[in-house]
Amino acid sequence: MTLKHIKIIGHRGASGYLPENTLAAFSLAIEMGADAIELDIVPTKEGELIARHENDLTHTTNISQFPEFADRLRTKSIYGQEITGWFTEDFTLAEIKTLTAKAPPDLQLGGTVPAPAVVPTLQEVIDLVKHQRTAAGRAIWLYIEIKYSAYFRTIGLAMEEPLVEILSRNGYNTADAPIAIESFESESLKHLHQLTQVPLVQPCLDLTSTSALASIAEYATILAPCKRLIVPTDEGGHLLAPTSLIQDAHQAGFKVYSWTFSNEKMHLAPEYKGNPEAEYEQFLLLGLDGVFSDFPDTAVSVRDRLHPSQ
Ligand code: G3P
Ligand code: CA
Repeated sequence: MTLKHIKIIGHRGASGYLPENTLAAFSLAIEMGADAIELDIVPTKEGELIARHENDLTHTTNISQFPEFADRLRTKSIYGQEITGWFTEDFTLAEIKTLTAKAPPDLQLGGTVPAPAVVPTLQEVIDLVKHQRTAAGRAIWLYIEIKYSAYFRTIGLAMEEPLVEILSRNGYNTADAPIAIESFESESLKHLHQLTQVPLVQPCLDLTSTSALASIAEYATILAPCKRLIVPTDEGGHLLAPTSLIQDAHQAGFKVYSWTFSNEKMHLAPEYKGNPEAEYEQFLLLGLDGVFSDFPDTAVSVRDRLHPSQ
């Protein structure tokens, strides 16, 4: 019998240590033994795909310090939320490349960036991982998450087609390439299902009834539920009994990867007593197939202890 390989995915790179969605954070995740890195993508003004979690550059770059960009501060309604900031779709790639990327203000990072980090393009991330291998000789996987799909389509900057084009140019637009595409927006994934054979990942915060799983299975092969759909908590943040979601999703044919695992005490339920390894142990023993982690070194260490053959 072959043991399943539990996939450790560096969430936005090793984003617990270095500014998220930067080449430095992706490289560190790979050095730490991650099997895969996850990045979020949004477009620039000319439609270049870049690695950012939000299209608002205010909190993850130093754009507010650039007087020449002051008049491009905008207030926009994005999915019903009023946001004031500097938005990727109003800047060319050349302009965005003059910025320094940083961690969101509420995060204290443990690592030091070797040089000022810039905002990478998707192509630069592909170039970084393409020829790297894990210690076991496996290709490093890329999990590419499309953000704000419907919003960008309405302003003429749809991402699905250019994404598939980039994958094709890199020889990655195949069912067996080390690539998967994610989107919370099921319409985006359904559209991608028509455009490409690469595996599709449905992240979810709900939608886990048997009939919902059956509908998702029509276009996606990986289910990525929030941790709390697998091990819920009560109002005080205490752990409740696990749900049957992992088994239900396996039954429906999915692999199940969950998010987001962190070493930070504020993200750990009291039952783990400040030990992040206890949380990974619980989820891996429940049968999870992969984790999105901000601290991939901890995830790798628990995975290798519980499954030494991997
Ligand atoms: O897909 C897992 C995770 O990346 C989804 O949440 O907000 O970190 O993009 P977020
Ligand atoms: Ca993401």
